[in-house]
Amino acid sequence: MFRFDPYSPAIDADPFSAYKILRDEHPCFWSEEAGMWILSRHADILRALYDWETYSSARGNLMTELPNRAGNTLGTSDPPRHDRLRNLVQFAFAKRNLDYIEDHIRTTARGLLDGFKGVSEFDFVEDYSAKLTVKVLFRLLGLPEGDHDRVRDYAVKMVQSDPITRQKGPEHIAAFEWVRAYAADVIALRRANPGDDLISQFALAEIDGDRLDENEVLLTVTTLIMAGIESLGGFMSMFAYNMANFPDARRALVADRSLIPDAIEESLRFNTSAQRFRRNLQVDVELHGKTMKKGDFVCMAYGAGNRDERAFENSDIYDIGRKPKGHLGFGGGTHACLGTAIARLTTKLAFEELFTAIPEFTQVDRLLPWMPSSTFRSPLRLVLAKG
Ligand code: HEM
Repeated sequence: MFRFDPYSPAIDADPFSAYKILRDEHPCFWSEEAGMWILSRHADILRALYDWETYSSARGNLMTELPNRAGNTLGTSDPPRHDRLRNLVQFAFAKRNLDYIEDHIRTTARGLLDGFKGVSEFDFVEDYSAKLTVKVLFRLLGLPEGDHDRVRDYAVKMVQSDPITRQKGPEHIAAFEWVRAYAADVIALRRANPGDDLISQFALAEIDGDRLDENEVLLTVTTLIMAGIESLGGFMSMFAYNMANFPDARRALVADRSLIPDAIEESLRFNTSAQRFRRNLQVDVELHGKTMKKGDFVCMAYGAGNRDERAFENSDIYDIGRKPKGHLGFGGGTHACLGTAIARLTTKLAFEELFTAIPEFTQVDRLLPWMPSSTFRSPLRLVLAKG
């Protein structure tokens, strides 16, 4: 009998063969282990993403949700509350274009790469993507220098689950509480002393007399720390994994940097770091001969939809020339990712610099330690050898 357990280490390591069985044989599948329905076809997921009245986010969007998030954040609320939050946050984002941060990303990337000059191997996750992402997010949000490592450790911890029970343990919840308390301190600091950073903009953003209240600013900042640090760091690690495992693609990008943006889109399709998010049904839904009941949770398996042959020809082939329109790497519809521009820019600059410093590299360990998470997929360590 076919089973799909999004909490299993086997699925962390390779979900793609199970995804194919889901799409072809069980397009609307009840997973006992997850206690929810799994949607795996591109068209079904896309339809659900635009129908928030049926597929609600207000009971949480992470596969294993953290306490006090559901109903309160951008990612975990429905319109009209969601749209109001999103408009105010977008307004704050739009106050600054990203030009000012470009130099910072490049200089930080170069500084990190300088540190690899005398070495033959380096851990892409610990030594490059994690450090770069944190520094970019710190600059974007205006978080104080010096707290980088602690904030990153807690932000990564809060999206993980216990490797045995696969549920949130006390240390994951404590990490979330720590990040919330940290964000509260920084917001108080910025309110007293506003700067040109995003947190100050959130605190000041106003549309038709409407502002984010104290708690909304707090949850928005906490969400951005989590969404930014884990999703972006994880995605850059997946892109490096592809560059190590598809050397012809890497050499094409080294020869012509203008191909990098298309390769990023193909990686977001082929093996995105944001694999699965959940919704909650507000009414009964009939799909592919099954009845999903009001109140049931439904998993949107973005990673499975991205490999759907019905949407992408030769979907299991990594093709940097594909230009995959409509991929689900950033989700879609009502809750489509708000950080797409900064994510694309940071990844592009990080790899332009990497290809200049280290054009040839290979993956050292064949078996990678994958993050224990039912929502995200990325390696905890990715050691690359130069040359
Ligand atoms: C390559 C990196 C990233 C990936 C793959 C990614 C992926 C995603 C996905 C799949 C969603 C939809 C979640 C759902 O369906 O419930 C999402 C939402 C979101 N992301 Fe990202 N993300 C990335 C980077 C970022 C960054 C850097 C930021 C902020 C600085 C960010 C902020 C957000 C926010 C605020 C939402 C919620 C939007 C809403 O509910 O209206 N993301 N992201």
